[in-house]
Amino acid sequence: MLCPTVIGRGAELDALTGGLDRAANGTGGVTFLVGDAGVGKSRLAREATSVAASRGFEVLIGRATESTVPVPFRPITEALMKLARAGAAPDAPEMAKHLPALASLVPEWSRPLDEVAEISPLILGEALIRMLTSAGSNKATLLALEDLHWADPETLAIVEYLADNLADANAACVATVRDSEPSPGLDCLRSITARRAATCIEVSRLPDWAIRRMARECLDTERIPDGVTRLLADCDGLPFAVEELLAAAVSSGRLINAATGWQVNDEVTASVPASIAGSVRNRLTALGPAVADVLATAAVLGRKFDWTLLPGITGMAESQVLVALQRAQAMQLIEPISSSPNLFRYRHSLTRHAILSDLLPPDLARRSASAAAQIESAHPDLPGAWCELAAELHEAAGDRVRAAELLLLLGSRALRQGGLSTAITSLFDAHELIAAAPLAEPALAIEIDEALVDALAHAGDHGRLVPAAERLISELQAAGADPRRQALAMLTVARSDCEDHCGASAAQLESARAIADRLHDAELASRVDAAAACQAMRAGDLDGAERQARRALSVAEAADDRWAAAVAIESLEVIGSTERQRDIDAARAAFERAYQIATDWDFPIRRIMALHELGTVDMLIEGGTARLSEARDLAQTAGAISVATTIDLQLANSWSMQADLERALQAARQCEQGARRIAARRTEAMAINVQALVAAIRGDRAEAERGAARAESASSDHPEVLFSTWGLTRVTASLFLDDLLRALRESQMGISFGGDSALTSARRAWGIHALLRSTVGARGRAAIEQASAGGAAVGWNLGYLRYSQAVLEGREGNNDLATKLAEEASAHLASYAPWWNHLARRLVAPAALEDGWGKPAAWLREAAAEFQATGHPRLVSACRGILRRAGERVPRSGRGTAQVPAQMRRLGITSREMDVFLLVARGCSNAEIAERLFISPKTVETHIASLVAKTGQAGRRELVAHAARFDPAQLPSCYPRLTQEVTHRSSGFTRCAHKVRRANMDPYRGAARLPAETREVPRA
Ligand SMILES: Nc1ncnc2c1ncn2[C@@H]1O[C@H](COP(=O)(O)OP(=O)(O)OP(=O)(O)O)[C@@H](O)[C@H]1O
Ligand SMILES: [Mg+2]
Repeated sequence: MLCPTVIGRGAELDALTGGLDRAANGTGGVTFLVGDAGVGKSRLAREATSVAASRGFEVLIGRATESTVPVPFRPITEALMKLARAGAAPDAPEMAKHLPALASLVPEWSRPLDEVAEISPLILGEALIRMLTSAGSNKATLLALEDLHWADPETLAIVEYLADNLADANAACVATVRDSEPSPGLDCLRSITARRAATCIEVSRLPDWAIRRMARECLDTERIPDGVTRLLADCDGLPFAVEELLAAAVSSGRLINAATGWQVNDEVTASVPASIAGSVRNRLTALGPAVADVLATAAVLGRKFDWTLLPGITGMAESQVLVALQRAQAMQLIEPISSSPNLFRYRHSLTRHAILSDLLPPDLARRSASAAAQIESAHPDLPGAWCELAAELHEAAGDRVRAAELLLLLGSRALRQGGLSTAITSLFDAHELIAAAPLAEPALAIEIDEALVDALAHAGDHGRLVPAAERLISELQAAGADPRRQALAMLTVARSDCEDHCGASAAQLESARAIADRLHDAELASRVDAAAACQAMRAGDLDGAERQARRALSVAEAADDRWAAAVAIESLEVIGSTERQRDIDAARAAFERAYQIATDWDFPIRRIMALHELGTVDMLIEGGTARLSEARDLAQTAGAISVATTIDLQLANSWSMQADLERALQAARQCEQGARRIAARRTEAMAINVQALVAAIRGDRAEAERGAARAESASSDHPEVLFSTWGLTRVTASLFLDDLLRALRESQMGISFGGDSALTSARRAWGIHALLRSTVGARGRAAIEQASAGGAAVGWNLGYLRYSQAVLEGREGNNDLATKLAEEASAHLASYAPWWNHLARRLVAPAALEDGWGKPAAWLREAAAEFQATGHPRLVSACRGILRRAGERVPRSGRGTAQVPAQMRRLGITSREMDVFLLVARGCSNAEIAERLFISPKTVETHIASLVAKTGQAGRRELVAHAARFDPAQLPSCYPRLTQEVTHRSSGFTRCAHKVRRANMDPYRGAARLPAETREVPRA
């Protein structure tokens, strides 16, 4: 189970190859790779040797080995033996005086008449350097010395000599040393690096992402099975452990490679690989039974443990325990945690597992029980992590009820602090423990389920909430509990937004209302009102929602209590959402109040939800995403998955309007995963659709089409999803391929799914629709009105709607107004990716040319340059075609289309180089640039070299940093002003197109009736 590639070691490999470069140029040196056992030192050394071999180095390798009586110079001899075996001998005349020294290492090189050489490290070291530098005559040499922690002192002396004397040689030495235990080799390394005579690369443990990737590569799979993910946590960042644990899981048959991919057969736990268990056992045996006893109890407490508990649990004196710990520390089994005087930890989590796996079950249970008792007496309130540890220990000791009680305590605390994931996991665990407890505990079971339902409701995990709440309701009924408690459980179901349980939630609301009426309970009645308002809003009954919310709010305002605060927040959220359709400032005020109340009464999740709403308002008004991102991170940390995924979707949508499409994709993928986890299918589908939209913007129709279809099937053709897949994604794909007729058809299709309720999502579909209807379709004004009436006239959309109005005004001869509207439109689109503005201008330019408003020729030239840079050749030729037919100057093609700003022109930068520069600024790789500009990667390299030289940068990396200051959103402003004032010339073509368009009131009656410029565009 070896990982085929080296992961997460870019910087280390750079440092190693840097050393090789220097050696090749005659300035060699020693590089140490130092780190824990199994961290990947040898793997890096191996990479260095293979890079060296591929560059024509002579490569020599020697190892030190673990032995009680080390053989002097063993690693050096092993390395030189390779030369001897290959028949190389130091027989050049200048080597004569070094021959005796070398012969003492390699017997094959000794001559019958040699005197016994005086072997000092100095002489040997010098002889070795001579041999290394002459070994391959002009070739450079790499000497790799492995495991110097086991090396004999003589070898270490040679290494010191090499470190001090390789600087003028075309030879390099790479040496690996463990730092997990003291050794002469480690001391040697420290003294050499202290005087800066060698490079030292500290090889650290791999971060989580690299460990996950390693596992994927070891298993040769895209997706790591869930059971394996848990296993990886035990690897502590050690690549060796990853390979060992996976191999152990496979060989035990718990992880099998089935035809459908990897399957976890049984629960895969970190069964300790024999190699690790063996070494731990050896060390424990050497330490004796008292130390083993202390370490076993410590292992029961966890990887990290508080030593002050140990005397109480083991019954040993403090001083005895401390001696035992000291000895275990000397053996590298445990280490103190510097930040806290009482804490120690096992150096490797696998060491602890190895110790635990050697305990018999009754022994483990006994130790766990006394550890739990000791913790409860030392920390009676069980603050912080003590509660969780005590619960675990009680469970291990077999006391399920006490464990469940503690998990309930833990879950309720987490819930109060807004830690929803912890709360939900603990409460589910508590529920399972109590369900399996031999003596039923109905009151405790109800308490646990109440807390669980509360947590799931806050997390928005409606898929798991409804069954849990229904179970709770029947438990309450069976126990004859207070009807108020039953009503509250019903309300959680009523409030839930479960896509499959609409019927259930309406029924629960009615039952809760009946209880409130029967009890004449005003508080309960206002809670029912608030829940009813939520339900009405989801059903699209905005007036009803607002009415009930205001009623609940007024009752809540009169009471000064925690329940009233909760009702007030809930009502204000409904009020804010209904106001958002009419009066965005009123909406903001409502959400701000909700936020304030949530802060004052300490409702952390409600606070995040209010912040989310405020972030949404920001995004609608100014397009800013800062508050939204903040809310997202808070929601994620708190485990409010539903809120986090909703925000991910909003962010993905918002970023898909910006130039940073990668970020949009990332958020959309994250959202898709989160939504799938909580079975929110509509959100999942919308997230898939954003990914399809990004493909559409990139001009990849096939991918966009696949994504749209996937989104549709994920949501079983929900109308809101269809509205977006047709009205936004497919239309966008057609627009970026300049297939206007198809775009119009798709847009019409999308709108047909929209109805009026879809106005809140995928607003862009409305803006695009209005613009298509105003330019290539008919009844543009009606489309604009429809979009505005539905609240779509904000942000990005406003830009498209203004352009639509401009076209209509121009057509009526109101040219000044049209020009002004187009300017406003452009200003509205300024904060989005530049291509949206250019796309709109490409759509309106024919009308502007024909009717004589705006600056269509300049727009088209700018648009052509932008689309050239973004790799949209269809749009480039469309812009050029319109210009040509209108008799306007057409910018040069092929040689580069970007306009060169004055300061760059002064540096001698050509238009083609500017194209490359703009793509560099967007973070494109050479291969991507080559593909977009239809040139070879080699040519791209040449352009980049020239740009580096002309801009005076040190290299590509600096050029990228320099180019990155040309923010893509600002690109239009770095084009120079076009000197030629655009003059409108109404050519025969445009007049003719004008007539065709006027006659064409129905865009579906065939292409012959469409405006000429749309017909002439090449199709896919
Ligand atoms: N960055 C990495 N990516 C993928 N696999 C790795 C990486 N680093 C190490 N490995 C793999 O992990 C295993 C252990 O690595 P390696 O033998 O290099 O450790 P080491 O530090 O030399 O350990 P020791 O001190 O025991 O010699 C090897 O099989 C190696 O191929
Ligand atoms: Mg090694």
